[in-house]
Amino acid sequence: MTEIIDGNAIAAEIRADLQDAISTLTDAGVTPGLATVLMSDDPASETYVSMKQRDCEEVGINGIHVELDPEAPAEELYATIDDLNADPDVHGILVQMPVPDHVDTRRVLRSIAPEKDADGFHPENVGRLVAGDARFKPCTPHGVQKLLEATGVDPEGKDVVVVGRSDIVGKPLANLLIQKAEGGNATVTVCHSRTKDLAAKTEQADIVVAAVGVPELVTGEMLSEGVTVVDVGVNRVDVSERHSEGSQTESDEADTEKGYELVGDVEFESAKEKASAITPVPGGVGPMTRAMLLYNTVKAAGEQSGVDVELP
Ligand SMILES: NC(=O)c1ccc[n+]([C@@H]2O[C@H](COP(=O)([O-])OP(=O)(O)OC[C@H]3O[C@@H](n4cnc5c(N)ncnc54)[C@H](OP(=O)(O)O)[C@@H]3O)[C@@H](O)[C@H]2O)c1
Repeated sequence: MTEIIDGNAIAAEIRADLQDAISTLTDAGVTPGLATVLMSDDPASETYVSMKQRDCEEVGINGIHVELDPEAPAEELYATIDDLNADPDVHGILVQMPVPDHVDTRRVLRSIAPEKDADGFHPENVGRLVAGDARFKPCTPHGVQKLLEATGVDPEGKDVVVVGRSDIVGKPLANLLIQKAEGGNATVTVCHSRTKDLAAKTEQADIVVAAVGVPELVTGEMLSEGVTVVDVGVNRVDVSERHSEGSQTESDEADTEKGYELVGDVEFESAKEKASAITPVPGGVGPMTRAMLLYNTVKAAGEQSGVDVELP
């Protein structure tokens, strides 16, 4: 039987555990605060930010939201970050990516105070992660690591193929998994668009993580029996194209109303035939990413206030 890894349930457990840490902080007079900054009118970015704010509200984190006109000068964003860096009620800062083209993304990442860098993308925090001394693990890779742990899949000694080498998922995940530390000790191969014969790599793997942004790129044919599959991909696929042939189910009909369907980077049905465990999309990595943002905010609040908190 293939285990369908329930990211919602695992994330709910982490959030429940975080609740204890938040109580410790509030008892000490500290309310953890997370500032989200949105400089975009992209509907997906707006949705992500509002979900993050809702998550904060649900667990007792003070969510501060700043919205900037996407046409505003870049200096406005840099000044906003400076203000948030200086605000003692803000423990974590997240600038929703992507920012408009006229804004220097690298400057944004460097401007956030490293100790408030809830995403873990500041060069200092990237360096610490690579050196095995992570302050904030980036939320999605950390979420993947926690998913594996909760599923009882220890990467130690395993061959892991990470498909995708982005700064936010592929690279930091590969770095986490090679660490000589709990949740690491894997032999990691990182694949990307220039990789020759991707299938030859994935079919050797005990664990495959797909973070590509190409709908259903990884198919069952590319996997070995018993593999663990983690699908990070979230792709909006036009429902009319997807169901141009064949009959529709009830959930398909619901998707039709929205006009799109969320599809991962893995072809779920064929991969499920090979996998011993697999994450669905949605309901796999997504909720974990959100939970780990709360985790980083609570960690940041503990460190900045000097209150000892026990993190899950
Ligand atoms: N669930 C979550 O919480 C969460 C969080 C973050 C991202 N995501 C999703 O995860 C996916 C990846 O996101 P990202 O930000 O990492 O994407 P990204 O920055 O676009 O990077 C995609 C990576 O995939 C590689 N790639 C593209 N086509 C390929 C192919 N045909 N074969 C092999 N590799 C290929 C690219 O290679 P090159 O480097 O050579 O271009 C790149 O390294 C997206 O669907 C995104 O929406 C989900």
